[in-house]
Amino acid sequence: MQHHLAHSTTRTPVGAPHFHYQDHALYVEQLAIKALAEQYGTPLYIYSKAALKAAWARYQEAIDGRDVLICYAMKANSNLAILNLFAQWGAGFDIVSGGELARAIKAGADPQKIIFSGVGKQAWEIKAALNAGIKCFNVESIPELALIQEVAATMDKKAPVSLRINPDVDAKTHPYISTGLKDNKFGIAMEDALATYEHAMCLSHVDIVGLDCHIGSQITELAPYQDALARLLSLMDQLKSKGIQLKHLDIGGGLGIPYLNEEVPHPRDLINTTLATLQARGYADVQLVLEPGRSLVGNSGMLVAEVLFLKQGESKNFAVVDAAMNDLLRPTLYDVYHGALAVELKAGETQRYDVVGPVCESGDWLAKDRDFVIAPGAFIAIESAGAYGFVMSSQYNSRPRAAEVLVDGDKSYVIRRRETIEELFEHEHIPNAI
Ligand code: LLP
Repeated sequence: MQHHLAHSTTRTPVGAPHFHYQDHALYVEQLAIKALAEQYGTPLYIYSKAALKAAWARYQEAIDGRDVLICYAMKANSNLAILNLFAQWGAGFDIVSGGELARAIKAGADPQKIIFSGVGKQAWEIKAALNAGIKCFNVESIPELALIQEVAATMDKKAPVSLRINPDVDAKTHPYISTGLKDNKFGIAMEDALATYEHAMCLSHVDIVGLDCHIGSQITELAPYQDALARLLSLMDQLKSKGIQLKHLDIGGGLGIPYLNEEVPHPRDLINTTLATLQARGYADVQLVLEPGRSLVGNSGMLVAEVLFLKQGESKNFAVVDAAMNDLLRPTLYDVYHGALAVELKAGETQRYDVVGPVCESGDWLAKDRDFVIAPGAFIAIESAGAYGFVMSSQYNSRPRAAEVLVDGDKSYVIRRRETIEELFEHEHIPNAI
């Protein structure tokens, strides 16, 4: 067992200033997180509207009126209220399923700013997207192009398409979230790109509008983007020589966020260098599209849990909390770090804990080797839970999914109520015959 010196302060939350300590209590904007946890129960996802707005503003300030469209990759957090905020702010959306299309439209998205990514689009999804009048399909394979042509023909419509090219660059991120390498399932190989464009040109119900790539997620340096851009530009030159004009270039999402104190590129640097390169190469009139997810929402949310028990193990102490891997899968799925903060800072001797949930798996952990002065009944906030948090949650171990709350100044709104026990099995039937 390890003991550490008494302390009554902690580091600044990664979501500062929207998440901050005030008189030893963790706040989201003007509200004490302890009071929210008591009011709404735990596990509880809490989002800050001001933090979302600030993340959006970082992109908008970088764009500074130039022709750049931000299509929020809504897979990162697709709660209707959050989508609605982005829609109000003028965002487009990057969708990957018919379900996401329906959500985006329900939340007030402008269909003309929706782009449809993903390797396995089905006919009904293509049809729904054509009916909605989306901006473009990011096409990931030749058979998919054929299906889009077929569906569009039956509807007597022209499908706007971009080809997603796999530039074969290493985004230097976690292997599960690196997508631009040759071995990944994503996109059309660079060597097939020109021929695929030429083939698409001949299709009667397809309209070529752009070029797309997405090289990975949680990218912490600009070099992989620059490598990808260089390859895309040589393809664009070839397309130009064949008379294929592109309206936009989509460089995907992927900008990382600090989970602790990582240095991450500012969107301004990505946007400025990309636009400068496009201009220098004679493509100033090509619209730039980005599909950020994590960097728009990740540090705008926390997952708050109550400490149920403290267990002193032989070599480790455990803080057993009421949130688990079903609520936040990232730590165990990717073996990654999320900050864990005491919602109230108490004076006393810190002890080192693994923060674990009640699910029956050794992999059910949220944070490892963290120092707290903590007691049962206290709350712990897991940071950086705004992206790929709630959306990846499940009901594993028959645990109802958590509630989600949006805070705006001194007001809080339930944007998804906690599921009930009855809802766990509401879609199930016991057949009469057995
Ligand atoms: N565009 C496409 C085509 C994508 O596949 C993704 C993410 C994005 C945009 C947005 O990337 P972002 O800006 O969020 O990095 N569940 C993983 C992340 C999976 C990302 C999948 N694709 C995680 O929790 O780290």
